[in-house]
Amino acid sequence: MNQLNVAIVGSGIIGANHAEAIVRHPRLRVAALVDARIEAAEALAAKLDPHPSVHLTLGEALAAGHIDGAQIDLVAICTPSGLHVEAAEQTLRAGAHLLVEKPLDTDLAKARAFAKVAAEAESRGLVCAVVSQHRFDPAMVAVQAAVREGRLGRITSAVVSMPWWRDQAYYDSADWRGTWAFDGGGAVANQGIHLVDQMLALLGRPEEVYARTALVCHEGIEVEDLAVATIGFAGGALAVLHATTGARPGLPVRLGVYGTEGSAVLHDDQLEYFHCAATPEVKAPDVVPQEELYGSAKAPDGFVLGHLRQYQDIVEAIDTGRRPGVRVEDGLLALALVRAVYVSASLHRPVDFGQVLDGAFDNVTVFTQE
Ligand SMILES: NC(=O)c1ccc[n+]([C@@H]2O[C@H](COP(=O)([O-])OP(=O)(O)OC[C@H]3O[C@@H](n4cnc5c(N)ncnc54)[C@H](O)[C@@H]3O)[C@@H](O)[C@H]2O)c1
Repeated sequence: MNQLNVAIVGSGIIGANHAEAIVRHPRLRVAALVDARIEAAEALAAKLDPHPSVHLTLGEALAAGHIDGAQIDLVAICTPSGLHVEAAEQTLRAGAHLLVEKPLDTDLAKARAFAKVAAEAESRGLVCAVVSQHRFDPAMVAVQAAVREGRLGRITSAVVSMPWWRDQAYYDSADWRGTWAFDGGGAVANQGIHLVDQMLALLGRPEEVYARTALVCHEGIEVEDLAVATIGFAGGALAVLHATTGARPGLPVRLGVYGTEGSAVLHDDQLEYFHCAATPEVKAPDVVPQEELYGSAKAPDGFVLGHLRQYQDIVEAIDTGRRPGVRVEDGLLALALVRAVYVSASLHRPVDFGQVLDGAFDNVTVFTQE
């Protein structure tokens, strides 16, 4: 099987995590690193063997020949969130497969237009995926299968909670953090979007969102560090979403999904509780063939492992022509739900999810109560 050459755009915290996942995958290699601060790309390149080429722009990386003169097969976009769609469009225009970090972008209108571009690219055989690595956690895979197969019966409700802590230094560490334009929001848009996406994967399409947001314990940021929302789903289920970066010392995420035939609780991404009438006990299978991916190397930490699992999904999608596990349309739905939370909180009333998704609230200026 041929090696796939990957270009990573954005050589910051998550770019380095992508690089670590890629070097552990037998089919992938980091061929190029891009960063607007060339020293960031150079510093990361120096840690990799063989050294990838380094570039100031994605255009430069796509045009250059790489290891063995090969072209870039896959681009991983790891820049600040407000720059995602632009680089994603450039990737697909160049005919490369795409993995874009969450959230899909910060601007729902731009993301909506890009979803059409991605659908067209998919029809040409390109794989277009959005990072949501916790969808590939073995426990999440097991619960998704149980819901899909109807083993929990009709889903009646869900409760998801992210009581995390981010100190002030985190928000001060880069100019783009905590801004509407480049972070797209706070606790929900940046950290909580993982849970938002998991909730959507389990409960389907929302109908109505009623939210409150607040800035309770950080300074100098535009966005919320606390959000609470109730969400009504098309099937009649109701869910509660709680996301904060103001809960010292930071506790694990929790996701409970409850149905007429059974219930499941994920705690810290592990299966804490599972019950259904037909199969009272579920063991979460490991979805990654570990020995194949890790070889004799030291097992990766959880942060790297999550991305490694998603890369495995993408390699399979490229090899077989099937759709990846998390598509651009999933990223669009997650972004629309995040936007619905902010629109509802700003207007102090429930909002119709479909209308937010379709653009009826695109011109609402959102803000956070202090
Ligand atoms: N999946 C996850 O669990 C996860 C975790 C952290 C961050 N993220 C996402 O990854 C993205 C980046 O976050 P981060 O924490 O790595 O940020 P970061 O600030 O550490 O890194 C961003 C990098 O992008 C570079 N950059 C800025 N503009 C650029 C441009 N136009 N072209 C090329 N490079 C440019 C910056 O110089 C910086 O090195 C965000 O969208 C964030 O939401 C995802």
